Amino acid sequence: METTLIILKPDAVQRGLTGQIISRFENKGLQVVGMKLMQISQQLAATHYEAHQSKPFYAGLVKFMTSSPVVVMALKGNGAITIARNMMGATFGSKANPGTIRGDFGVSNSFNLIHGSDSPEAAERELKLFFAPGEVLTWPRHGDQWIYDMSGGKIE
Ligand code: RTP
Ligand code: MG
Repeated sequence: METTLIILKPDAVQRGLTGQIISRFENKGLQVVGMKLMQISQQLAATHYEAHQSKPFYAGLVKFMTSSPVVVMALKGNGAITIARNMMGATFGSKANPGTIRGDFGVSNSFNLIHGSDSPEAAERELKLFFAPGEVLTWPRHGDQWIYDMSGGKIE
């Protein structure tokens, strides 16, 4: 089981798309184990996107991410990191395939609605940045026996 960090970016919140996006993840079978509305500080945006510090789009990206509230989520599931990235689609809204979140809801390259951790290492680091201890919950989900085949003793 993996847990990934998802951010519904300021454009998703301002455009009233959070419910539709969250529904996609719930419908897929990923489990929401953490979720909150928050305003990202300058410092947090800089730390989160520190790998992009030297890129030409960095200043605009930090400005965008701190401009308005976001919804942050911790999503759990078997292969959750890759599943969420595939559901998000390609980085640029103009290139993302139909059927993906970025492909269905946006056309902009910078205002691309959603962030998702891109590796287990990134997920571990980012979850700690956005959630305090105790904010990510372990809760038994009633329908899990119909989400996963666990008859063979492992998750399929
Ligand atoms: P993210 O980190 O937000 O999940 O997005 P990503 O992995 O698909 O893309 P990444 O290369 O990590 O870029 C981070 C964010 O920077 C903005 N960006 N703008 N205008 C541009 O050329 C440009 N390139 C990147 C996007 O908001 C992208 O999600
Ligand atoms: Mg990225």
